[in-house]
Amino acid sequence: MNTVQNNFNLLPLNSFHIDYIARWFCCVETVDELHWLLSDKQFENQQQLILGGGSNILFTKDFDGLVIKNELQGIEKINETDAHIFVKAAAGVVWHQLVQYCISNNWAGVENLSLIPGCVGASPIQNIGAYGVELKDVFYSLEAFSIHEKKLLTLHLNDCEFGYRDSVFKRQLKNQLVITSVTFKLNKQPVFKTSYGAIEQELEKMKVHELSIKAISQAVVNIRSSKLPNPAVLGNAGSFFKNPEIDADKFEQLKTDFPTIAAYPLANGNYKLAAGWLIEECGWKGKTIGNCGVHQHQALVLVNYGGATGAEIFDLSTKIVESVQHQFGVRLEREVNIL
Ligand code: FAD
Ligand code: EPU
Repeated sequence: MNTVQNNFNLLPLNSFHIDYIARWFCCVETVDELHWLLSDKQFENQQQLILGGGSNILFTKDFDGLVIKNELQGIEKINETDAHIFVKAAAGVVWHQLVQYCISNNWAGVENLSLIPGCVGASPIQNIGAYGVELKDVFYSLEAFSIHEKKLLTLHLNDCEFGYRDSVFKRQLKNQLVITSVTFKLNKQPVFKTSYGAIEQELEKMKVHELSIKAISQAVVNIRSSKLPNPAVLGNAGSFFKNPEIDADKFEQLKTDFPTIAAYPLANGNYKLAAGWLIEECGWKGKTIGNCGVHQHQALVLVNYGGATGAEIFDLSTKIVESVQHQFGVRLEREVNIL
């Protein structure tokens, strides 16, 4: 069992590289260790935070409680049918390593989700998504340790209430469960999804003649690397805001006032707006305020140029929310978890 450390510096464990301290910190490598830690009277009534790769979190102050870094490891094929492979991955597995493992075995479904930072255990929290695929499309079940009941539970697709960057784990079950593993339902026969964004152009540029999940993964990696900052080099947490959904009347009004507005229709008759377009149009793209700013290639990404505090980044995000509200009458919602 790893020891519990006091006054632990969180800077290396969050992709924004924000310099705050956790009152207590411990890594767990097994479910038994997790059980032991969560049963310890010292921590029972304390605030707890489960940490994966720290790539969707903004600390705005020291964490006055116990931070548990999930380091449960292992990937195994647990079942197979004529059409599908069922793969169980422990929560501490790095997401992109799982993607690479599936591609190397020719198991299809996660290739469009290549290079998303973070760990498997966090993937259901906001139902990670990119390039036309969401986690829910490959999700079969998960196991989670109930903090109050002190036992493992299994949840299936219908229990998770997945939506766009949303799940039951951000609402009713917030702070109740520690996800310990996720089981994925992958395809033996790939269904290629290349219509989203610049995938087709990138495949052409790569001179791919025979489509494969490996080629799609590489195209996604290339596109992402060209516009998203690498957190190892420049602190960030990906999209800071969600793309907002508006109704058709509001869309017609905006389209009249702003004919180039970036939006696409949804099945329910509403429209999804590109928040990056709204933020850029307000003049924020590439702007720096103090030690933080708005990324020059992607206005949806806020960055820490070094030494920014979480409060500074949060204040910048508030200014952006206010100016988008003022110019377009649209309320941006933060995607990043604020602590
Ligand atoms: P963390 O930041 O450690 O945690 C996020 C939340 O999940 C916290 O509330 C935490 O308490 C909770 N949590 C973590 N693990 C567990 C667990 N085992 N049990 C219970 N709760 C848990 N996201 C996308 O959806 N699509 C993208 O394309 C995308 N691109 C990104 C690009 C960059 C450059 C960056 C920095 C981020 C991007 N993200 C994207 C956001 C991020 O990668 C995902 O949200 C990812 O799933 C976060 O994983 P993590 O392990 O770092 O989670
Ligand atoms: N746009 C601009 N200016 C910008 C950025 C974007 O005008 O600075 C407009 C352009 O019209 C562009 C459109 O927005 O065509 C969409 O941009 P992009 O393809 O970069 O995607 P996004 O909507 O900004 C979303 C996700 C990303 C995900 C990509 C690819 C959200 C909040 N973000 O970004 O997820 O990787 O699509 O699927 O849904 C994340 O969640 O952290 C994340 C990075």
